[in-house]
Amino acid sequence: MALQDAELLEKIRQQFETAPYPNMPLELSAKSDANLLYANSFVTPFYLRNQQLASPKDLAILDVGCGTGYKTLVLAEANPGAAIFGIDLSAKSIQLAQQRLRFHGFAEAQFQVLSLFDLEQLDQQFDYINCDEVLYLMPDLAQTLQILKTKLKPQGILRGNLHSLFQRYHYFRAQELFTALGLMQGNPGQQEIEIVLETMRGLSDDVPLKQQTWSAKQADQEPQDYVLMNYLFHGDQGYTIPDLFEALDQADLEFICMTNQRSWDLARLFQDPQNLPPFWQENLPKLSIQEQLQLFELIAPIHRLLDFWVGQAGQTPAWKPPASWTDKDWETARVRLHPQLQTPTVKAAITAAIRQQQQFDLTPYLTAAAPDQVRVAISPYIAACLLPLWDAPQQFPALVKRILKIYACDPITLKPASPQRTSQELRNTLINLEKYLYLLITRLPQ
Ligand SMILES: C[S@@+](CC[C@H](N)C(=O)[O-])C[C@H]1O[C@@H](n2cnc3c(N)ncnc32)[C@H](O)[C@@H]1O
Repeated sequence: MALQDAELLEKIRQQFETAPYPNMPLELSAKSDANLLYANSFVTPFYLRNQQLASPKDLAILDVGCGTGYKTLVLAEANPGAAIFGIDLSAKSIQLAQQRLRFHGFAEAQFQVLSLFDLEQLDQQFDYINCDEVLYLMPDLAQTLQILKTKLKPQGILRGNLHSLFQRYHYFRAQELFTALGLMQGNPGQQEIEIVLETMRGLSDDVPLKQQTWSAKQADQEPQDYVLMNYLFHGDQGYTIPDLFEALDQADLEFICMTNQRSWDLARLFQDPQNLPPFWQENLPKLSIQEQLQLFELIAPIHRLLDFWVGQAGQTPAWKPPASWTDKDWETARVRLHPQLQTPTVKAAITAAIRQQQQFDLTPYLTAAAPDQVRVAISPYIAACLLPLWDAPQQFPALVKRILKIYACDPITLKPASPQRTSQELRNTLINLEKYLYLLITRLPQ
């Protein structure tokens, strides 16, 4: 490691030693945050890549740069039974993370004060490596990814994220300002934080830096975290989509998808996504995922993080989306709920909707699955058909039998419902729900 990198690492360590992150109350539980659990459940990226269910048995998870352990707690809650290991450069953070996990009943979670540059000291490989809000601090992204890869099992998945250069652009300017003012020479403390606060509060409201960066609400609520993580952040760097893909290439890692993939839909940036301008209609389907993401960030740099899942190269099996499955595929299809939807609360709500013969809107229970403004609702009949999924996975033919019982007859002709048409309609509904991962549908390998 170059001397200036070692100095930077030490500055980062000191920053988090004096201000461990995140500054969340110990008692705060992650149990009821379905969206966070969804994004931190190994089931989600494994299914997205393999179209299979991850076997949660013996799952080993490493949280790199775990900080005070709130995200580690989310990982533990989202992956029941998994062995959890957290590392961080800052001893204070590790102490707090350990306390947090113990407090919430995960006493067996292990922690170690360790830099990710010393990962070779761990004699274990992991199914899932979480590196959340850390990578953008590293001097060499490709090298860091290569190090993380050495601890990933062949089928393992790595979640990482980078600060977006375009979305954070004005904060990077602010960081340059406060560096020029001498606030970043050492470890920024209370005095430096106060100078930032009084500067930003004191600037006229119509001054660009204030308009483009300042959140009075966040500054009032959590002044220390807000200032340190935005205005006085040692090592903070911005990245673009091409930067990300170049580093993945160098590290020989395979992109799976963004963790919030649905919010990166280019077509939805247009007034009428179904009716794009002719140039876009013709060319959009020809674009690679990387190209689509790059155009998205150029048109709409709305995501603070480029938040992604990747795996070892060559591990993505060839699979067909359920929309292209044959009748034979569907005969062996097994349908289950995403674990984050399979809760007593959702079961009670769907049961009530069936009783009251009302549409059931799944979106509020898992907003992360569907893009903004998209509502995913099902009729009370479909809801009644899917209800057994809250108890156990179901074979597709069993669901067809159930929907035929529910429909009994065609409400217009009063003739018995057509098994073929009913089965096709049910398939279409399931395909739509699978698209948003409310349902996970697997089939026997052919
Ligand atoms: C912004 S915090 C993120 C904490 C946590 N992952 C989260 O998302 O809440 C960054 C953390 O990475 C740790 N860190 C920075 N560089 C590291 C390194 N080289 N090795 C291990 N941890 C590091 C810091 O000490 C800090 O706790």
